[in-house]
Amino acid sequence: MKKFRIKTFGCQMNKDDSERIAGLLNGAGYVPTDADNDADVIIFNTCCVRRNADDRLYGQAAALKQLKAGQPDLVIAVGGCLAQMDGEAIQKKLPHVDLVFGTHNVARLPQLIDRAAGEKRSVCEVLAGSESFTSDLPGLRKHAWHAWLPITVGCDNYCTYCIVPYVRGREKSRPMEKLIDNCGSLVKDGVKEITLLGQNVNSYGRDLYGAPRFAELIAKVSAVDGLERVRFTTSHPKDLTADVIDTVAAGGNICPHFHLPLQSGSDRVLERMRRQYTSKNYLRIVEEIRDKVADVAITTDIMVGFPGETEKDFQGTLNVVRAAGFDQAFTFIYSQRPGTVAAKYEDRVTPAAAGERFARLIEEQNSHSLKNNRRLVGNKLPVFVEGRSKKDNYRLAGRTPSNKLVHIKGDDDLIGRTLDVEIREAFSWFLIGEAGDIA
Ligand code: 5AD
Ligand code: SF4
Repeated sequence: MKKFRIKTFGCQMNKDDSERIAGLLNGAGYVPTDADNDADVIIFNTCCVRRNADDRLYGQAAALKQLKAGQPDLVIAVGGCLAQMDGEAIQKKLPHVDLVFGTHNVARLPQLIDRAAGEKRSVCEVLAGSESFTSDLPGLRKHAWHAWLPITVGCDNYCTYCIVPYVRGREKSRPMEKLIDNCGSLVKDGVKEITLLGQNVNSYGRDLYGAPRFAELIAKVSAVDGLERVRFTTSHPKDLTADVIDTVAAGGNICPHFHLPLQSGSDRVLERMRRQYTSKNYLRIVEEIRDKVADVAITTDIMVGFPGETEKDFQGTLNVVRAAGFDQAFTFIYSQRPGTVAAKYEDRVTPAAAGERFARLIEEQNSHSLKNNRRLVGNKLPVFVEGRSKKDNYRLAGRTPSNKLVHIKGDDDLIGRTLDVEIREAFSWFLIGEAGDIA
């Protein structure tokens, strides 16, 4: 039996694509393996949102050259966003790669692998777009209890720094009835938690129905019998409406967590990023969420070093970070992406200044993460146990409804269950708890 190994870079959408790729290959008679030297096919599912993701791919794929020299029948394939962006350039940089396929070519992967293996020369297929959704393909899920559910693909916002609209295409929503049906079958198949995915979930349905219908969608998904938890990401601040906040506030199995990328706290920078909100609007939304949704967590993405960002702009970001009191922030240094509008801006921030702001931002945010987490010490929270902790193999790792990571002692048979956990200790990035009964 032939074996495949997938290495995934990037966001949740890519993780979902990898599960679809695994499903396709499984259907074509392959089985998964965790070892490079045991695989007949190695697939890189790549990301191109920042330069360091490109570098990681080129580094890791180059490292397979020796393995390929000793195992000439091994097929090395590169797919995903970087493949969509760089196409044939990848073949030039990595001549030992057998196949490059774009984000719209996933459905044809088994045939493409056969062709690459048969022709003994490198194959490249990158379609500019497609009418079908990769997410309609059957997936082989990494965890039996969790499913990603892309509700939209692509993005229409064209933030000036971002490459995503160029590699993933315009925003397309999947029909609501189909999504609800899909949720029903997933639950029958043992799924307990579904994460609805989109670059901007709040605009779900705009292309199909003329107006967004995200609030209705989460309400309907949450009503699917037997589903324990519904999550969603990412919320764009410009489109997050009160009806969505109210639906989450109504509670039940919809998890009280918003991932609401801020990017910058300076209105001048936000304007140049074409984010279409001001820091004041942003903070108003944060306030509304905190007022309405009990035990909510708000997380964010923030970038420093965007072209033209001054110390004063950066102070604006720190001010919003202080005022918003985020539970967690994913922080990035701006990375120039060829083809985007911002790539043409000439007033670059020096790497030294960007690096120094980055460190200050992390320090500021860590204190807020810690403060918020410390408030939970002594509370009893329902924790869904996801598996062994990656950091500490003696502990299990689980999540609160608000998506906080909790480490607890316990046996493997608790994986996939929800426990009542008393929070004992808090750190910036996780909590330690003591497991009680199965909830
Ligand atoms: N440089 C740095 N960070 C970026 N992001 C998107 N594009 C870039 C870029 N060119 C960040 C944003 C986004 C997250 C997924 O990645 O913060 O929300
Ligand atoms: Fe995801 Fe963006 Fe990376 Fe593509 S480029 S995998 S959409 S983060």
